Amino acid sequence: MLKQFRSVKHADVRLGRLTILVGPNGSGKSNVLDALRLVAESLNTSLDQALRNRGGVGEVRRRSQGHPTHFLIDLEFTGTDEIPGVTDDDEVVWGARPFGGRYSFEVAAVAGGGYRVSKESCRVDDAFFEVVGGALKRTSEAVMPPANDQRLYLVSAAGLPAFLPVFEGLAGITVFSPVPDIIRQPQTPDLGDFLVRDGANLASVLQRLERTESGRKTKARIEEYLRVIVPGMQGVRREALGQWETLQFSQEVAGGTAPWRFPAQSVSDGTLRALAVLTGLFASTGSLRGPIGIEEPENALHPAAAAVLMDALREASERRQVIVTSHSADLLDRDDFSPDEILAVRSVAGETVVGALEPGGDLALRERLYTPGELLRRDQLLPVERSGDPQ
Ligand SMILES: Nc1ncnc2c1ncn2[C@@H]1O[C@H](COP(=O)(O)OP(=O)(O)OP(=O)(O)O)[C@@H](O)[C@H]1O
Ligand SMILES: [Mg+2]
Repeated sequence: MLKQFRSVKHADVRLGRLTILVGPNGSGKSNVLDALRLVAESLNTSLDQALRNRGGVGEVRRRSQGHPTHFLIDLEFTGTDEIPGVTDDDEVVWGARPFGGRYSFEVAAVAGGGYRVSKESCRVDDAFFEVVGGALKRTSEAVMPPANDQRLYLVSAAGLPAFLPVFEGLAGITVFSPVPDIIRQPQTPDLGDFLVRDGANLASVLQRLERTESGRKTKARIEEYLRVIVPGMQGVRREALGQWETLQFSQEVAGGTAPWRFPAQSVSDGTLRALAVLTGLFASTGSLRGPIGIEEPENALHPAAAAVLMDALREASERRQVIVTSHSADLLDRDDFSPDEILAVRSVAGETVVGALEPGGDLALRERLYTPGELLRRDQLLPVERSGDPQ
């Protein structure tokens, strides 16, 4: 649930294994993903930093006539706590323990551009804490660290095993928005354990996959999808470039005996974006298995390639929750969608309304009368809630 977050006055939606946020430009799709990104960023860096990156709390809380001063992010979740084990050839295998709970926080803007965390609470199975105005009010645990109103308490509470899986799941949320021109530049090598938002460490992530058997399988799967999306493309690998690195693509050329090799600078926008999206979807290591968000994955792709991409989104959603924004009728042109997988987004008088499909659209998809792509072309993917008021 979101309240007074950017253009969202009130939204209460359910995100399944795969969720596609569909709506016109400026309707608030990215704002919904940004709420998830803000949570992850606040936990990985700090709330202060995450708000600064967005221009301060004044940009994040909703602007409206009533001048709301608080925004709220409230997440209910289920997950599996992954317990690592190591096999003989040094590969990490994960055992699973299911858990469920809820985490929410409310941030208030204060005079002079500052902010404070007015409320924060977390419950996971039998463990819980509640912080109000920077003071710990209630907890299930015998000993807890001190709280303050400038930071998210979950960061400190993650020192306790009970709250660690919540922290890891939420801090592991990644929202990708790959930028071809950034992927083309020489990249600074890093650990490559997860892909960054714009794709700036794509070479390191692909290189890391080469190191383990399961990583090589993942890379082969990524290349398999890439070959279908970009005809002639054979594969991709990291290439050292002095103290930097880049990507080298091999492409089959008619009449040629050996494939041609192209550096990232010479490769098309669509190829680079598709590679980054596929890598974001499939390459993850360690405990970073939180939900993945992708901004307009179909961007720069040919309509036929959008169908392949949809297969990839589905396959990835078996392992991790996937949430994407899209305006692509081509991506949605298939009849195996469940209405629960689509969230319609609209802006009504500057306010984002996001929700499940209204009964007509819901029925059309359930009965397979139309594909969501067909409804989108007719502008008939509408949310059930017409105003931002809670139902
Ligand atoms: N703090 C805020 N208060 C109210 N409205 C806001 C706030 N921040 C952003 N917005 C509104 O949200 C809009 C942007 O929404 P968003 O980026 O989510 O659109 P989108 O659906 O992703 O569109 P596109 O398809 O073009 O990417 C802005 O144009 C602005 O009107
Ligand atoms: Mg957007």
